Amino acid sequence: MKSRIFYPTEVVIEAGGHRSLLPYIPSTNRLFAVTGHSSMEDAGVLDTLRKQCATAGVALCIHKGISTNPLHVDVDAVVDACRNFGADTVLGLGGGSSIDVAKMVAMLMTNGGSSWDYISIGGNSLRKIEKPTLPLIAVPTTSGTGSESTPYAVVTHAETKMKKGMGHPYLYPKVALLDPELLALMPPEQVAVTGFDAFGQALEGYTSGRSTLHSEFYGYSALKLIAENFERVFDYPNDLDAKAKMAWGATLAGLSIGLVDVNLAHAMSHPLSGRFNIQHGRAVALCTAPAIWFNRAHVGDKYTQAAALFGSGGGSADESAKSLIDAFYQLAEKFDVDLKLKNYDLGDVDMDAVAVDALEIGAIKTNVRPVSFEDVSMLLSHVWEGRYA
Ligand SMILES: [Fe+2]
Repeated sequence: MKSRIFYPTEVVIEAGGHRSLLPYIPSTNRLFAVTGHSSMEDAGVLDTLRKQCATAGVALCIHKGISTNPLHVDVDAVVDACRNFGADTVLGLGGGSSIDVAKMVAMLMTNGGSSWDYISIGGNSLRKIEKPTLPLIAVPTTSGTGSESTPYAVVTHAETKMKKGMGHPYLYPKVALLDPELLALMPPEQVAVTGFDAFGQALEGYTSGRSTLHSEFYGYSALKLIAENFERVFDYPNDLDAKAKMAWGATLAGLSIGLVDVNLAHAMSHPLSGRFNIQHGRAVALCTAPAIWFNRAHVGDKYTQAAALFGSGGGSADESAKSLIDAFYQLAEKFDVDLKLKNYDLGDVDMDAVAVDALEIGAIKTNVRPVSFEDVSMLLSHVWEGRYA
């Protein structure tokens, strides 16, 4: 038995911390910030950053416009902008996509090449991450992906639409700042779908086929915080205490999967995002209930433990899985998250190709129950109908 923790990230939980960000990166002279479209500008957060940098004499370049499911060519273009600016530090400010792009930019600045060169296809990637990245600061504005606490970054190929992740200990941020004031800016839909990503990651980390003492502890602790605070952050967006606990839950979930990877629901979610541009947390939510049911006889008493956190009873493997799924369905109904894939506007759908893509995601090999093409096809038919079995 071996359980190992390696976590080089300084995690700060501080309400209003974004207004005094530079003390966490005292060595920077040229800061390159990566963020989404307009929410941080509209909320005055970028102006706050501009003022801090001007006061400290730090040159700042802000790259806005990171979308959900960023394409590899777009990431490469951001690297060009960062190189032209001559950055010494990269800041990711936003949801998981912005932070993932910031990670890849910081890595590519020192390792070179295209982002897709580092994606493993058939077990091999064109290039390997060999050099430390530029210093990377992650400031999440959602409580979901846990990107601020993982060694992963995910990107979608512009032509094939295959969405895959890269992983290396160098991709851990130097600092992660969880600021509940920023999280209070999230619209309700984002609270819901990013929270379901955190839920899925916590559960997958907790029940991984590779689970260790460390990953179980972080996964279970994350689930507990999510169970206690998910509804509250939805109902009371200005409850900064609940926001902080939900953020810490998402970060702990990231810590758990950083050790053992995600598994079944995430592997199925990636082609849904890559091919149909469904937001990551929503795609994970679509796949979660069928994955819970599929794994129910292989997780020991972990579904009983998880269901209890959500106030549901346990019992047999079937009863515990059903209790957990019922708790999950209640949240989805309350948050108005549609769990029937067939209700989404997808265009042409080739579910066999989706299943092939899901099996190409390396994380699926860490699922506690082995998964075949026939299994994934069956599970995706449940996702299509919004059933768990
Ligand atoms: Fe995720």
